Amino acid sequence: MSSRRLAIRQPESFALSAAAKKEITSWTKKYPKGRERSAMIPALWITQKDAGGWLPEAALRAVGDMLGMAYIRVYEVATFYTMFNLEPVGVHHIQLCGTTPCWLRGANDLKAVCEEKIGPKGSISADGKLSWLEVECLGACANAPMVQVSNGESDHYYEDLTAETMAQLLDDLASGRPVKPGPANRRHTSEPEGGALTLNSKGLYSGYKAKALPNVAAGSKSPAKPKAPAKPKAAPKAAPKAKTKAPAKPKAAPKAAKPKVLYTDGPTDGAPDDLKKIKGIGPKFEGDLNSKGVYYFRQVAAWKKADVTMVEGVIDSFPGRIERDEWIAQASVLAKSAGKKVKA
Ligand code: FES
Repeated sequence: MSSRRLAIRQPESFALSAAAKKEITSWTKKYPKGRERSAMIPALWITQKDAGGWLPEAALRAVGDMLGMAYIRVYEVATFYTMFNLEPVGVHHIQLCGTTPCWLRGANDLKAVCEEKIGPKGSISADGKLSWLEVECLGACANAPMVQVSNGESDHYYEDLTAETMAQLLDDLASGRPVKPGPANRRHTSEPEGGALTLNSKGLYSGYKAKALPNVAAGSKSPAKPKAPAKPKAAPKAAPKAKTKAPAKPKAAPKAAKPKVLYTDGPTDGAPDDLKKIKGIGPKFEGDLNSKGVYYFRQVAAWKKADVTMVEGVIDSFPGRIERDEWIAQASVLAKSAGKKVKA
């Protein structure tokens, strides 16, 4: 991959919109506390859209501030992935796949069209409508050669292109005419040209479900809604006995009594222990345990079977994990070494 650098000309400032901040925050909440930086890729993607299709340095810093990360870490990611534009782009930004399958199927012809209609790789057309870049495989090799076109509203693939259809696509985009994503050669998704060659025996679709989906099988444009089954004229005198018994409703899980080892008002016996010292407990489980009133090794060491069952239920752990990782034995040792008496 060629070196990717930040743009030489940068805006003086950048501020994320309230909507972008909200969206980024919703992504950070998908990760455990302290791991918010895991949302960096979506955060950069949202920020790029918010900044008009590219990432000025100030925008990268805004992402770093939101995620509590060193700016250099954000730069590392943004300069690695070609999905992040480090220079301004046109209204429609074209990423042209030049990897082997697309190259074998004519990517160089598409490149020539881009060069002719837009300019050299990485440039923006004179009217600002189009820009283009060559990228690595975009995962649509079955429909090679292909491009992805991104604008403020969508990111679509245009596939099975030729020099002619590519030229038409660029003309349509530049003039604001509607364009249709997907294969340009009338293939249906990635089926062979001319239609499917396998799984097309009519016998496969007879019988079960054939009556329920008559329009789909016949290939009509818009399948009619299946008719609601006609009501029986008269209710049968006696309902036929079911051959098999309906499965019994699962019994509601018994409400576990709150074990004595849990506190309700936070750590009341000095500074809480670092529960992460117990192998198998990370920051997430420690937070869960704290939220349920477990702060000390001696509490864990005092758990009985019922406590373990209850705790596994409330901390959303894997069943058997506490026993398998020997939390209680570990806690007992840690409690003793911490000089605390283990409650019976
Ligand atoms: S090689 Fe072009 S999409 Fe995979």
